[in-house]
Amino acid sequence: MRVCVLCRRKTVVMPVGGGIVANTYGLAAGLLFRGIRLVQCPTSFLNAHDAAASSQKQAINHTGYKNIVGLYHVPTMALIDTSFYETLGVTELKAGLGELTKNAALFGGQHYELIKKTTMTKGVALSGDDLVEATYIGLGAKDMLLAIDPKEKHLALLFEYGHTVGHALELTQGVRTSHGEGVTIGMLAASYISNKMGIMGDADREAHDALVLALDPQIEIPKRDITEEVLDKVMHDNKRGYLPEREGFCPFILNQRIGEMHAPNKFYLEYVPVPLVREAIIYVVDRMRRAMAAGGLAKAAESESAMSRASTQEKELDLVIGKTAAHVNAFRPAQPIHLAASNLAKAA
Ligand SMILES: NC(=O)c1ccc[n+]([C@@H]2O[C@H](COP(=O)([O-])OP(=O)(O)OC[C@H]3O[C@@H](n4cnc5c(N)ncnc54)[C@H](O)[C@@H]3O)[C@@H](O)[C@H]2O)c1
Ligand SMILES: [Zn+2]
Repeated sequence: MRVCVLCRRKTVVMPVGGGIVANTYGLAAGLLFRGIRLVQCPTSFLNAHDAAASSQKQAINHTGYKNIVGLYHVPTMALIDTSFYETLGVTELKAGLGELTKNAALFGGQHYELIKKTTMTKGVALSGDDLVEATYIGLGAKDMLLAIDPKEKHLALLFEYGHTVGHALELTQGVRTSHGEGVTIGMLAASYISNKMGIMGDADREAHDALVLALDPQIEIPKRDITEEVLDKVMHDNKRGYLPEREGFCPFILNQRIGEMHAPNKFYLEYVPVPLVREAIIYVVDRMRRAMAAGGLAKAAESESAMSRASTQEKELDLVIGKTAAHVNAFRPAQPIHLAASNLAKAA
């Protein structure tokens, strides 16, 4: 009510902050007088390249579900100054890099090269120039698809890759992760599903997951079993309704390999059986729990591969021992020879 008294049709709403501020005030600007001018001033890395400047989507979460109250409202202008990034913490940097990690999987090319020379080479220790370049490349990705699909209803739904499980985790009670890191954890669930459905091969999955490993997303997961809670959020995902509802299935955006998306229809949505979605949630939650206990995804992967190397060596050793035993058995005489001390003495 107070807002209505303070605002006029000519008022300009200018949110200065992260994506949540941008979306909340973007929604208000879209509602007031059926839409007044909105000038976005993003201060977080994620908001600058992925939300405020490019997107028309303005929404807030409600009743525990993501972005379900919202509208489309085009910003009149966006002012991006990357010097705001100077005060960002590692979590906020990883959040922004998370969406760029997703773009690398979606588009390959320069988006993959960016991740190769940033997180895959030097983690999050990025220079100011790196961040300026990353912001441009991220904005370029959005422009590329929004020019064709500004309301993100078909082609640009691709930007939702990794978001189905990512959003669900983000909104589960007791889970703490940034939006962008949650998206990359969601990518691990998507590649698990894609691999199980025969859409993504093993080597391609490894290359895809390496993008996420390099970011080393952080997450806090409560001790209780959260599978059904996460699944419930997935079942209410905002990508429902594009395809005809199919009982027992959930729509998912899936990747085939880096730079190549699975395209079963113009929405890029594949029906995934709910039991497989549940399996993917269990897999990703368990993997992230182990990763957090081991000090990160990359460290956990290293120690797991060392363990699997050791078990391969053990198996190889078993095989050698087995072969030796088989060899010995093959030449074993039917009657055992007793090398008793007396026989030895005789032989001598
Ligand atoms: N509309 C869209 O198309 C779109 C796209 C992507 C993400 N989003 C939304 O954006 C949100 C994520 O945005 P976010 O990552 O900016 O999160 P956020 O808004 O929660 O900000 C993250 C944190 O960074 C702080 N912060 C912002 N700027 C800072 C600065 N310069 N220095 C220090 N701290 C700073 C904020 O106060 C906050 O604590 C999600 O809710 C997501 O749904 C919307
Ligand atoms: Zn996002």
